[in-house]
Amino acid sequence: MYVTPRRQTARCRPHRLAGHLARSLALPLTSRDTSTESACGGTLGLAARAANREREWLVQVMDQHALRSIMGAFPKGVTVVTTVDATGAPRGLTPNDVASVSSEPPMLLVCINKTSTTLAALRHSRKWAVNYLLAGTSEVSNQFATKLPDKFFGVEWRPGELGVPVLQHAALAYAECTTHQEIDAGDHVILIGMVAAGQPPAPGTLPLMYFRRTYATWSEDHVEGSYVPQGA
Ligand SMILES: Cc1cc2nc3c(=O)[nH]c(=O)nc-3n(C[C@H](O)[C@H](O)[C@H](O)COP(=O)(O)O)c2cc1C
Repeated sequence: MYVTPRRQTARCRPHRLAGHLARSLALPLTSRDTSTESACGGTLGLAARAANREREWLVQVMDQHALRSIMGAFPKGVTVVTTVDATGAPRGLTPNDVASVSSEPPMLLVCINKTSTTLAALRHSRKWAVNYLLAGTSEVSNQFATKLPDKFFGVEWRPGELGVPVLQHAALAYAECTTHQEIDAGDHVILIGMVAAGQPPAPGTLPLMYFRRTYATWSEDHVEGSYVPQGA
């Protein structure tokens, strides 16, 4: 049985994208890529194999270096996510894969690598705080990006409303959350938190930022424009 032209187009499109991306990333196309063409013009039985090749292709083309460069093209703030372990001891790590999810009800997400030693404590307590770091606190960020047993050494904190550590001088704002959902996502898990308490930034405070593996801060001198569409 031959595939319909419409189906062929759908199957072939990822391959054309593969070629385009591989060329733009200056990465070699493999012999597998050329064989996809015959699958596109072949039988439906080959469609499943073509889909497999598509998945393999993504792994081949998206090498770690290119992927990091692409992800690094998006400047972000830096946070320290804190919790307490089964003994009540403070635990935490530095993530910047953090995003707002919903305002009603208030939710945010954080992506945690499955190798994180803090993950067990986050899963156990199901309560955590996202501490949005202040400009000038890159040392705190680096300390929480280690595997040191006591990452809180020299860092002032107090228990927040949920009893999880809130950084007192290193954060410009924080949000305390309870785990609403955990989603398995490749080598990470996505924790979606329901925001239960928090503190907004004081006027004039600036965040620690991270772009192309470099810390920086927001510069009021380089603001591009003041118009932002309503609802943003
Ligand atoms: C700027 C920056 C951003 C980071 N973002 C994340 C992230 O979003 N998710 C993550 O799991 N690790 C992230 N890391 C790496 C962790 O902080 C690091 O692996 C840390 O050692 C984890 O600690 P743990 O294993 O004790 O939990 C980031 C590190 C830095 C310096």
